[in-house]
Amino acid sequence: MDLNFKISTMITEGLGEYRQEFATEPNCYNFSKLVVSFSNRPELCDYQTNIAMIISKSVGQKPIDIANKIISNIKPNEEFEFFAVEPGFINIKVTDKRLSKYANLVMNDAKLGVPQVHYQRIVMFDYGGANVAKELHVGHLRSPIVGEALKRLHIAMGNKTISDVHLGDYGLQMGLTILQLKEDGYLDKFFKDITPNYDNISLDEVTLDLLNEEYPKASKRKDVDEAFKKLADEYTLYIQHHKEPYFTIYNKIRKLSVAEIKKNYELLNTTFDFYLGESDSYPYIDETVKIFVDKKLARESEGALVVDIAREGEHVAIPKKSPDEPQRYKNPMPPAIIKKYNGGDLYATTDIATILMRNRTFKPHEIVYITDNRQSGHFEQVFRCAKLAEISPEGQKLTHVAFGTMNGKDGKPFKTRAGGTVKYKDVIGMLIESAEKKLADNGIVGDKELARKIGVSAMKFGDLSNTVAKDYVFDIDKFLAFDGKTGPYIQYTIARINSILSKANEKMSEILISSEEERSIVLAVVKLNSSYKVCYDSYSLNALCLAAYDLASAFSTFYNNCKILSEPNLERKKEMLGICTLVKRCLEKALYVLGIDAVEKM
Ligand code: ARG
Repeated sequence: MDLNFKISTMITEGLGEYRQEFATEPNCYNFSKLVVSFSNRPELCDYQTNIAMIISKSVGQKPIDIANKIISNIKPNEEFEFFAVEPGFINIKVTDKRLSKYANLVMNDAKLGVPQVHYQRIVMFDYGGANVAKELHVGHLRSPIVGEALKRLHIAMGNKTISDVHLGDYGLQMGLTILQLKEDGYLDKFFKDITPNYDNISLDEVTLDLLNEEYPKASKRKDVDEAFKKLADEYTLYIQHHKEPYFTIYNKIRKLSVAEIKKNYELLNTTFDFYLGESDSYPYIDETVKIFVDKKLARESEGALVVDIAREGEHVAIPKKSPDEPQRYKNPMPPAIIKKYNGGDLYATTDIATILMRNRTFKPHEIVYITDNRQSGHFEQVFRCAKLAEISPEGQKLTHVAFGTMNGKDGKPFKTRAGGTVKYKDVIGMLIESAEKKLADNGIVGDKELARKIGVSAMKFGDLSNTVAKDYVFDIDKFLAFDGKTGPYIQYTIARINSILSKANEKMSEILISSEEERSIVLAVVKLNSSYKVCYDSYSLNALCLAAYDLASAFSTFYNNCKILSEPNLERKKEMLGICTLVKRCLEKALYVLGIDAVEKM
């Protein structure tokens, strides 16, 4: 089905004597320089290649002559037309006949022409990463948005995926929260007497609202109260070592918090195969540390255990200005700490131990982590450690997808009017409310779920249409517009098609392109399908968003110029219904991959 591949093959055949330019050994060729791309002048052609210009450099002939020669070697056919143009490009036009065939193949393909991987791999996705006992805020939006879409992309292209939320449930915030609750008298029952079964003691008075007050309070206090911080550190250690009653209290808080986290992710159409957390690596931690010690990769430093991970040549010494100045280095990669001075486990330790656990349990070919770019250093350390100790086998790919910040219109991280952190649920609330207003303008009131679908679509498309690494501006009005490069626009296009299809009395027929508008639509489908691979290779969904938008706008032109329902020629009308169905299916699939719901009407 891949047109690009077909064209490349034909050009390869047309190379004739120039084939030798690609020889690596007798009868062995490397055609990687032969790039056929979509044309940037769609009025002239559909595809183009500059291969004649490349060859010209080594054979000393004019590119246009080479281009003409290549074309003359290609057998004329009914599918593609080749033209040589000055100074030596080869332009390619796909015939309507070939495009119609493509469209019908897509219609009959369960995968709708989405390219499939050659070898199926198991890819594990680690995203979400909410921290137990801490309320989700605006900074927690991007990971579930990007992660869910990447996971769905891999599924659409034929990989097997495993998703794990990897909760932050093992760190200082747990010690702080429990200490604060204890000081404020909420845990008296647990500390009154020693019982073999703390499970029977209820923690009913500890609600989410209370946690949302207690943690921030403790967090502020730790910065000014050294003794408090020290005690919280100790509590954290108790939890990590399963000491009672701390461990039972911890588990109860975890349960409460996880239920809430789950609900919040589901609002964003984000689900996980596993709700594991840092704490689940606990049974693997001693073994992990032992691997480093046994392999002599760890050394003691000020009571802590550290692993040197800097590579040859990385520590470039900066010349000292005076002899007693300490030696400084350019781009130093600091050693990773895997055991704290007090025996506590660190973020890096749990992450390395988690890799060990995942490799024992799931054996993924790749693990993809989706977090903001401030964690790049952390993951570089974790990956290096895991590779050094061979906890991650040689062929396993470890990927950190680092995303940028969601900013406000002032270009600074999105804040409340008073300058505070915006809560996650307030962003979702804002999206739903604005979508409700928009719907009301269109005469639809009281459909909260529809408003959620549209609001989430606005948010996700606004996010994913940017390169993942980039910061972007959260602009709710722009994201929610029913026309323009937005999620709601794509949903609207589908809703429009639904309305046409439900009003038409005829069944659709095979596609046979018979207008420029239809031609543009099918070409947009070709481009949409090729964008999946671009996204797969770049771990970013922007190409798919753009291609979906282009298809929706090609449909809009068709809709405005060709009166489908009033078309008198029945054959023609049925064919147009085929085009409508093609667009609907392809857009629905693209939206699904982006984690956006299609809607029946809006
Ligand atoms: N809990 C972490 C945070 O809030 C994110 C977890 C990301 N995943 C991981 N395996 N470290 O920053």
